[in-house]
Amino acid sequence: MAFSFSKLIIFGPQGAGKGTQTEFLTKRLGVPAVSSGHLLRLEMGQDTKLGHFLKTQMSTGELISDEIINLLIKNYLLGPECVRGFLLDGFPRTVDQAKFLATFAAVDCILKINISDAEAVWRLSGRRTCPSCGMVYHQESKPPQKAGSCDRCRVELIKRSDDTPEAIQKRLKIYYTETVLAVVYYQTQSIPILEINGEQTIEAVRQEIFEKLGL
Ligand code: AP5
Ligand code: MG
Repeated sequence: MAFSFSKLIIFGPQGAGKGTQTEFLTKRLGVPAVSSGHLLRLEMGQDTKLGHFLKTQMSTGELISDEIINLLIKNYLLGPECVRGFLLDGFPRTVDQAKFLATFAAVDCILKINISDAEAVWRLSGRRTCPSCGMVYHQESKPPQKAGSCDRCRVELIKRSDDTPEAIQKRLKIYYTETVLAVVYYQTQSIPILEINGEQTIEAVRQEIFEKLGL
């Protein structure tokens, strides 16, 4: 069956592959990916008061305040890039954020990728990220063509400051105590929720998502 979703949110615990699958989906759907984490990391790279604050706060695995994230996302979604739709990764993460989003944008589909905590820890421990474009790699499951360098920008890959054992545990706890409640909120709004088995190869996850979206 063919669907025509254009305003989607991708949920899943840390390391589920949201960023990885977003790369495929954004090309096929023709709408931009909006990663709250990537937007925050771009701010974090600035030599500003906000940038320094984010650097400290995000490395602990704690959420950033709604005041900061809501403004950042709203500005982006109401901008010219998102007139045809969007694929949100990392926002909303709480029921309050979901309710805030509903004040200016309607969502038409939810993707929820599921993986175990053990898989999440393994994936995040070997993840490397491009600080420039946000492209995600893994030392074993998705290595770059040239070790340590982004295939797209040729920039040196980094290990994220929140990919430490302590911060990973904190982030997973927040997902299961707060973010899953945002998914429940969408259930009550009768928005379609497509459950995806994230514990398959990257290509098999991509196929399952495309099939369930009718792409
Ligand atoms: P964010 O950047 O959103 O991070 P996250 O939610 O912790 O999710 P991840 O990026 O870790 O996981 P992912 O699912 O994208 O996995 P990936 O594709 O990289 O947020 C970071 C921080 O920003 C938050 O902690 C918070 O402080 C702040 N923040 C963001 N949004 C916020 C909000 N709304 N409110 C408040 N604060 C906010 O894949 C992981 C690894 O696995 C990679 O190495 C990849 O290559 C590999 N991999 C992927 N799929 C597979 C597969 N199928 N098999 C094997 N390996 C795979
Ligand atoms: Mg991500």
